[in-house]
Amino acid sequence: MPSYHKYMSTFLCSILLYSLCLTYSVESTGDLTFDFIHRDSRHSPSYDPSITRFQRLRQAVDRSLSRKSLLTALRSKSSGESITAPIIPSDYEYLMKIKIGTPPAEQVAIADTGSDLTWTQCKPCTECFNQSLPLFDPSQSSSYRPVPCDSPQCTESGSSPSCGDACQYHVLYGDGSYSVGELATEILTFDGDVSFPNFSFGCGFNNVGSFSDGSGIVGLGGGSISIVNQLNDSVGGKFSYCLPLQDSNATSKISFGSSAVVAGPGVVSTPLVKKSPPEDTFYYLTLEGLSVGLDRIANAEPELLPSLETNEGNIIIDSGTTLSILPDEIYNRVEAMLEGAVEGERVEAPGDPFRMCYKKEDGFSSPPVTAHFKNASVVLAEEGVFLEVEEGIVCLTLVPSEGDVCIFGNLHQMNYQIGFDLVEEQLNFLPTDCSNPQ
Ligand SMILES: *[C@@H]1O[C@H](CO)[C@@H](O)[C@H](O)[C@H]1NC(C)=O
Ligand SMILES: *[C@@H]1O[C@H](CO)[C@@H](O)[C@H](O)[C@H]1NC(C)=O
Ligand SMILES: *[C@@H]1O[C@H](CO)[C@@H](O)[C@H](O)[C@H]1NC(C)=O
Ligand SMILES: *[C@@H]1O[C@H](CO)[C@@H](O)[C@H](O)[C@H]1NC(C)=O
Ligand SMILES: *[C@@H]1O[C@H](CO)[C@@H](O)[C@H](O)[C@H]1NC(C)=O
Repeated sequence: MPSYHKYMSTFLCSILLYSLCLTYSVESTGDLTFDFIHRDSRHSPSYDPSITRFQRLRQAVDRSLSRKSLLTALRSKSSGESITAPIIPSDYEYLMKIKIGTPPAEQVAIADTGSDLTWTQCKPCTECFNQSLPLFDPSQSSSYRPVPCDSPQCTESGSSPSCGDACQYHVLYGDGSYSVGELATEILTFDGDVSFPNFSFGCGFNNVGSFSDGSGIVGLGGGSISIVNQLNDSVGGKFSYCLPLQDSNATSKISFGSSAVVAGPGVVSTPLVKKSPPEDTFYYLTLEGLSVGLDRIANAEPELLPSLETNEGNIIIDSGTTLSILPDEIYNRVEAMLEGAVEGERVEAPGDPFRMCYKKEDGFSSPPVTAHFKNASVVLAEEGVFLEVEEGIVCLTLVPSEGDVCIFGNLHQMNYQIGFDLVEEQLNFLPTDCSNPQ
């Protein structure tokens, strides 16, 4: 038996081959809506005033980069095998409240459209990171059922060689964080006591990494074990969320089912590009270019936009990554355009991955930046484009990709109602003040 660390280092490859092919049946109980709170919010149980926003941002950025490297690893694998849960947790993140078990025990976990498996830390822990809520204790829940090794869920998963009495899962993140535990079924409960029996999730007994105070991950990706697919009889391929500004103390909602339709005046729509396993976890969009300043869009002269030749599905929309990671070519053009348009004193970037930084001072101003997705132009919330990453220094939160992985991160999704319609294969954006939803 190799040492655990060695095991983990070779594990990155094997996890990519770990698959779960499950079929689900749940009763239709109508629409679901529940709270979506920013983890820095005072309403968040993880709110810790002693951690500075700079530390939070730094952690989030490290994780964004980790995700990038994990995705690069995924991309380099041959397709045809699905993956359980490539996840990147983030401190500058959005948390979701759910309840698990009988009686229902509250969990607050990172909402992640970039991964599938939902997992939470469980008692007894071999190793657990600190979380603010009590650990989930399966022995106190009458509905907890480990998924046996010989069950279809587990055998079809090509499960771990160490599978003993129950089916074991492993989730490994790009930065070396991980969660290991048993695959189990439970009753999953949302607001208004809307509940679903037989929900497969990971009960994590050995969890290491910078997950901060949350209890785990809620997987909202496109893969079969995602909450979106397990509950599809009720969700019907539709969910939507609204991410409030990082600095607001607002609580917002994520909704599933017919109440999650984002439509009407002001809505712009872009196609979701489907890819086959293992990349079915990710929601791909087509980013044609970005522009700086509102005039260019108003003029709508396409040759003025720095548009690349259309590259179908060239970017992932991910609620679990903070920064946006752009194709180098798009990044370089945006930086050049901003260079001429930003007012302020440029300073050296305090560190990777930031490239473009300014002194934070009264004179600083930057023009609006717009992301041009196929058929949909999205003006990025001003508050998310430059962020104070160190005392007195603001940096551009768009960064270049060093590989071929591009991500539209959560800072740039703020203040839009974002509707995923997996049946129509469309993503809808509606400008919304997510701190004061109607
Ligand atoms: C729970 O779900 C699994 C996988 O879909 C299925 O095989 C099993 O029969 C279900 N169990 C119950 C009690 O519904
Ligand atoms: C976790 O909490 C314990 C008890 O409050 C504390 O002593 C420890 O330093 C914390 N660990 C981390 C990594 O924050
Ligand atoms: C989800 O439900 C919708 C509506 O019933 C259906 O059209 C779609 O095929 C389902 N998706 C999956 C993955 O089963
Ligand atoms: C959020 O709450 C903190 C702490 O109570 C307060 O200092 C801050 O002004 C609030 N921010 C907003 C935008 O309300
Ligand atoms: C383009 O956007 C409009 C709304 O702005 C929408 O009605 C239409 O379906 C979209 N077309 C595609 C191909 O996404």
